Amino acid sequence: METAVYSPTPVPVEQFIDGIRELAQGLITKQKIYEYLCAYEIRDEDLAHYQQWLPDRHTRNKIFRNELIEVMLICWPVGAVTPLHTHNGQLGWMTMIEGRLMVENYRKIECNRPENQQVVGMDCLAGATRIEMKHLDTELCVPGGPLNTVDKTQTIHRIKNLPEWNERAMSVHVYSRPIDSCVVFDLEAQRCFRRDLKYDNEVLSPEC
Ligand SMILES: [Fe+2]
Repeated sequence: METAVYSPTPVPVEQFIDGIRELAQGLITKQKIYEYLCAYEIRDEDLAHYQQWLPDRHTRNKIFRNELIEVMLICWPVGAVTPLHTHNGQLGWMTMIEGRLMVENYRKIECNRPENQQVVGMDCLAGATRIEMKHLDTELCVPGGPLNTVDKTQTIHRIKNLPEWNERAMSVHVYSRPIDSCVVFDLEAQRCFRRDLKYDNEVLSPEC
């Protein structure tokens, strides 16, 4: 069990992004971005600009994106739950700003469309109709606690803001490379499919 506690220094969003952009010019490793997010966070008054709240689902709000890396603020109302999903084989880091989140990590044991993983530029075409999944563990994520990550070995999870906590949550997510779609699993119906991911703070996705 990790018990690391960190207290990142709040910095203006421009400075935070400059730092991320600079790191992304070199080799991007899990450790490098992890350490950066333990050292710096976007100051509250700048984050406020990206906040959007909907009553029934989380919102994904773009802060920065280039070819290599994306940074977003996710706002989780009370009771928000993601479906079980993958991260397209990319790396991801989640740092808590307020509230708390439960992350349930899963591993796929088997499915009836393994050949659909043999595709360039994404982890899988999805489309299985029989899926065996194992629940590995559950992580509680809080501000100052260990960061939650996804990587090439741990890519499937579900995130919950439990209703009984009765508290909204905010988290900053960094992905490399940026992720435009992911595989979503419906274990009850025994099927999986690719779902497009969009930002809630823009209609289109212009280059920037
Ligand atoms: Fe995720």
